[in-house]
Order: sequence, then structure tokens, then C-alpha cells
Amino acid sequence: MAKIIGGVTTSHIPAIANAMANGLEETPYWKPFFDGYPPVRDWLNEQKPDVIILFYNDHGLEFFIDKKPTFAMGVADEYYNSDEGWGIPTIPPVTGESELSWHIANSLVEDGFDMTICQEMKVDHGLTVPLNLMWPGHNYGHVKVIPVCINCEQHPMPQPKRTLALGQAIGRAVESFEDDLKVVVFGTGGMSHQLDGERAGFINRAFDIECLDKLVSDPESLTQYSNYDLVELGGAQAVELNMLIAMRGALLGEVTELHRNYHAPISNTGSGLMLLENK
Ligand code: DHB
Ligand code: FE
Repeated sequence: MAKIIGGVTTSHIPAIANAMANGLEETPYWKPFFDGYPPVRDWLNEQKPDVIILFYNDHGLEFFIDKKPTFAMGVADEYYNSDEGWGIPTIPPVTGESELSWHIANSLVEDGFDMTICQEMKVDHGLTVPLNLMWPGHNYGHVKVIPVCINCEQHPMPQPKRTLALGQAIGRAVESFEDDLKVVVFGTGGMSHQLDGERAGFINRAFDIECLDKLVSDPESLTQYSNYDLVELGGAQAVELNMLIAMRGALLGEVTELHRNYHAPISNTGSGLMLLENK
């Protein structure tokens, strides 16, 4: 049977791609951020997952504001990236896992999640930056990736209660897949940030750390928040916390925190890197 062995939360900001392309990892600005990653990379290289299910939000590359699926997922064998406007390097194609993807898609629709099912899907920095962070030099060719997009660009957006439930439904779907696959789930984005308006640059460290704690030990408590609460507490783009919440939902077993690195600010965000084991 397929098994979800763990989950990872990570920032996805485009500035990371530029820092990596320009070799800035050891500079004083970036070092405290990049220093968090080796333990997670080591764990992934030891565990050798076959598949990554990656929750992210499409920032306008595949789904512009004229058409926004609430939940979308890829079922393709390959995914392409192109520059959605940040000027960051385009990454090589990402390999998909269409058999498990279709199994999850069927299971989700039966379970009441009306997914937009994409046989072609361009993937943006929300997916590409985390992959390159985990396998620098674009060395992720050996892993298969299933992209799952949650709308947090254009209101109305799904609420934390619903995104946790989506993650849980994906967890159940994976566990009912017959092949012996090792799966890791990534939730990318967040944490507190606001990119424009009067509160541009707003970061709430205490709230971010509380969210990381709750993601470990009491994810249900995060469903008390509406997206408007997230905006108030963490800034307009803190709704990206929904990706982290969905990731945690997919971990249905006993969850242990193996590693954490919270660092702020990095660009305009609070960055929460966390590795969770699922037994
Ligand atoms: C930034 C944050 C994001 O979530 C994003 O998608 C792009 C940029 C930033 O803070 O720079
Ligand atoms: Fe983002």
C-alpha cells in the first residue's frame, strides 16, 4: 500500500530562486534561512520518497484571475514551468505520477471534493522553488510530483476548515492505493505576509510560531480561523497558510516534529520550515 511518511512546510518566494541562482546562500541576509534546510534535505535523501504531493497556490501562471478553480490537481506525466513575471530561472520539466493522481482524483470527487482535474498544467514558483530548495541544482528528477492547487489568490477562497478536510481526504486516498509507494506531502507558502496596501511588509512572528505549534499538535484548532482572521492576524497573503493546513491534514497517523527553522523577514514573509514524520 502507499504510505505518507511525512510532511514538510516551506516558503516558496521567488527571491529564493534568485538567491540560489546567484550563489547568495552564505551571505548574512540569506544564511539564517538556508541554514535550516540541510536536515530536511538529508531526511529526504535517506527516506527516498517515490512521490511528493505538493500543495501550493498558482499565482497567475496556469490560472489567472478570470478562471480560478477552488481546488485543482494535476494528473499528468510531466509538468512544465515558465516565468510568470518574477524573472527567475525556468526549471526543467517535473515528472508526474498519473496513476496515483487519477486514483486521488477519483477518490476526492467521490468524497465530495469537486476537483478541477488537469491533464496539462503549468507550475509556478509555488511548486518550483520548494523542489529546488530540497534538491538544489534541480536534482529532483528521481521523484514524481503531484501538484495540488488551492485558490488563495482571488476571493472567495476555501476556508481553513475545508483545506484541512481536503488534506485529510488526500491522506485517505493515498492510503487506499495498492502500490507500495512512499509519499511525502509539501505545503508551500505563507506564513504571515502582505505584499501591498497600507500594511505592506506586515509580519506577525508570534502568530506564525503559534501556527507552527498548532500544525504539529492541534491542527483542528486552526479551523477556528476564517480567511478573514488569517488576513487580520497575518496580512493579506497569510491565506497561503491554507497550503500548510492542507499538508497537515494529509498526515493521518502519529505526527512527530523532526525539524523546524522559523526565520523572518525573508523578502516580505515569515518563513516557516518544518519537517513532520507521520507514523
Ligand atoms: C513573495 C511572497 C509570496 O508568497 C509570493 O508568492 C511571491 C513573493 C515575497 O514576499 O516576496
Ligand atoms: Fe506566494
